[in-house]
Amino acid sequence: MAKLQVNIGALSLQNPVLTASGTFGYGLEFADFVDLNRLGGFVVKGTTLRPREGNDYPRMAETTGGMLNCVGLQNPGVEHFCQHIYPQLKGLKSEVIVNVSGSSPADYAACARHIDALEEVHAIELNISCPNVKDGGMAFGVTCEGAASVVREVRKAYSKTLIVKLSPNVTDIASIARAVEAEGADAVSLINTLMGMSVDIERRCSRLSIGTGGLSGPCVKPVALRMVSQVAKAVKLPIIGLGGIMTAEDAIEFLMVGATAVQIGTANFIDPAVTMKVVDGIDRWLDDHGIADVHDIIGVIG
Ligand SMILES: Cc1cc2nc3c(=O)[nH]c(=O)nc-3n(C[C@H](O)[C@H](O)[C@H](O)COP(=O)(O)O)c2cc1C
Repeated sequence: MAKLQVNIGALSLQNPVLTASGTFGYGLEFADFVDLNRLGGFVVKGTTLRPREGNDYPRMAETTGGMLNCVGLQNPGVEHFCQHIYPQLKGLKSEVIVNVSGSSPADYAACARHIDALEEVHAIELNISCPNVKDGGMAFGVTCEGAASVVREVRKAYSKTLIVKLSPNVTDIASIARAVEAEGADAVSLINTLMGMSVDIERRCSRLSIGTGGLSGPCVKPVALRMVSQVAKAVKLPIIGLGGIMTAEDAIEFLMVGATAVQIGTANFIDPAVTMKVVDGIDRWLDDHGIADVHDIIGVIG
């Protein structure tokens, strides 16, 4: 067995495999398929200060090699999470990370403050990159100043590991990564979904209620890999890479271009047990290649 333990900020992950926000519920929904204690960690659903109903249906559409969604951050709000969900997630060996969204820097900070008080949640992931909500989300993640303003405010309110999730809907993702590093982020994760569209030609309309949605799945992997590679050259922060990972080999590609850990999203919808296969597959691949520690492949492609 190779050594799989990695660190992201102050988090010690037993292996580099996490799940991506919005694709794994609160983890509990997957407990019949996945031993939650064997994950490096899981990032729970996007959480906001107030409950949100999300966008109208239809809000998902299949595409070639992927899917589009415009769920729009449907969630019961941070107080519900703290009172009713968090107690069910206590005592796990894997790290629980809360994905936080908001409509202003103050809104993000207020949500983060609630989560700071939860003893067994050691990190949040700031979603400054959601393409499916009008009031905020991606607007912050597409400019250096917007991204910096959210991180600056949250950093004052949140004392633990702060991961910032970057948008791929930008021309220069490395500059956004540098901006959040300068404001005290502990890590970055990338990529969120790419803005896309799908048209029903018989009904002559978009297949999604709000017209556009976020593209995810295997079709985005080459873009995600390119962006992880660019960010790895631009910042010293640990990187969590994601976008289209379906197999252990896909995950290893992300590690080789500089990610310290990976997240798995859309693949959970196709095979709810995929994360276990990726953990075992990375371990087997390292053994087969005589590599004793996963760190020996992280960033080997400069
Ligand atoms: C249905 C759905 C809901 C999502 N919800 C969120 C969310 O609430 N917060 C967030 O940061 N990302 C969200 N994402 C984006 C994913 O976490 C991930 O960044 C993206 O799907 C790319 O990874 P993948 O190709 O492995 O799915 C969502 C993705 C999907 C498909």
